[in-house]
Amino acid sequence: MILVTGGAGFIGANFVLDWLATGDEPVVNLDKLTYAGNLENLRQAQGDARHVFVRGDIGDRPLIDALLLQHRPRAIVNFAAESHVDRSIHGPAEFIQTNVVGTFNLLEAVKAYWMQLPAGEQAAFRFLHVSTDEVYGSLGPDEPAFSETTPYAPNSPYSASKAASDHLVRAYHHTYGLPVLTTNCSNNYGPLQFPEKLVPLVIHNALEGKPLPIYGDGSNIRDWLYVGDHCSAIRRVLEAGRVGETYNIGGCNEKTNLEVVKTLCAILDDLHPDSPVVPHAGLITFVTDRPGHDRRYAIDAIKIERELGWKPSETFETGIRKTVAWYLANQDWVTHVTSGEYRSWVSENYALR
Ligand code: NAD
Ligand code: DAU
Repeated sequence: MILVTGGAGFIGANFVLDWLATGDEPVVNLDKLTYAGNLENLRQAQGDARHVFVRGDIGDRPLIDALLLQHRPRAIVNFAAESHVDRSIHGPAEFIQTNVVGTFNLLEAVKAYWMQLPAGEQAAFRFLHVSTDEVYGSLGPDEPAFSETTPYAPNSPYSASKAASDHLVRAYHHTYGLPVLTTNCSNNYGPLQFPEKLVPLVIHNALEGKPLPIYGDGSNIRDWLYVGDHCSAIRRVLEAGRVGETYNIGGCNEKTNLEVVKTLCAILDDLHPDSPVVPHAGLITFVTDRPGHDRRYAIDAIKIERELGWKPSETFETGIRKTVAWYLANQDWVTHVTSGEYRSWVSENYALR
């Protein structure tokens, strides 16, 4: 079996559900259930004996030791993290705690477990660390896309904490021989994404007739990848990636934020022609920029394509339509996650912009 951390969050839950749907192997899912983790995300896995959910922190060494001993996983996939850049600007401490100290703790526990495995199991073991393209910093308009050899230059507390964790993972391979793999992926979108991030936030606000906040002038560029494609890339790297290597994962879909928001508005106009706020683009509101806002991310994903034969299967157009349709069909889920803590976050982040 495999052990997944952070499997009640956006990408982790999509990964766990896809894992169970595409194979037979059981999965232990360790998640702290922070504001971003939600057991409702795993509803489809309820009653599936191959899915064992454990509430806990990657920073809890006795818990990790016990889980490794009990379940003897052949691989770890580490999604657990604080993931939202704006929150890292308001309060970086949790990011250091989970992303740096937590990953360190996990590596220590996994190293101890791995070292006592029989030789064959040791050789087959994998620790896959899920990271981000933000560790590479910001690109100018004409600079080449990030490759695996682009120097790290993180600009936010979030990306700096992810960069630190990537370095620790690398060092555990180099120093102790731990069989690690690291993936650095671009912006994901799709079902189950918490509506603090641009795509679900815009869909949610648009449906409520609220302003659609665009930081700065909306010309910042991100590369967008449908979450199911990220999950298939991780499965492929876990299966056939070369130990110690890093793989960039991207969608070849560079868009400005304004383009993304206008696309969402046009789809909502199509699907909700009778809404009193049509055209939804009329809700677009430019607000104060994010401090230190990275201008552009772009991914050169040729390595994973050449070595492992992976390519995304969704285009931005197909993926974004599916995503809007999912949010429309799952308004209960949105209502549940946007109560309580969500409201205090929205007033903290947007009230003064
Ligand atoms: P998310 O915030 O939706 O989910 C994170 C999950 O981790 C939550 O379920 C949370 O409860 C859990 N968690 C947080 N701290 C924990 C701890 N100390 N111990 C155990 N569980 C803990 O994040 P996401 O968007 O699904 O991102 C998952 C991973 O992928 C992160 O490592 C992130 O850096 C990386 N990533 C995200 C994107 C993106 O676009 N969202 C892109 C590239 C890489
Ligand atoms: O690139 C990968 C990263 O993508 C991941 O590592 C992060 O975990 C994930 O959160 C995401 O980071 P971004 O900061 O790019 O995502 P976010 O959805 O927060 O913002 C996308 C862009 O939209 C960014 O340029 C900021 C802008 N934005 C965001 C919000 C929330 C707005 O203009 N308005 C908003 O209200």
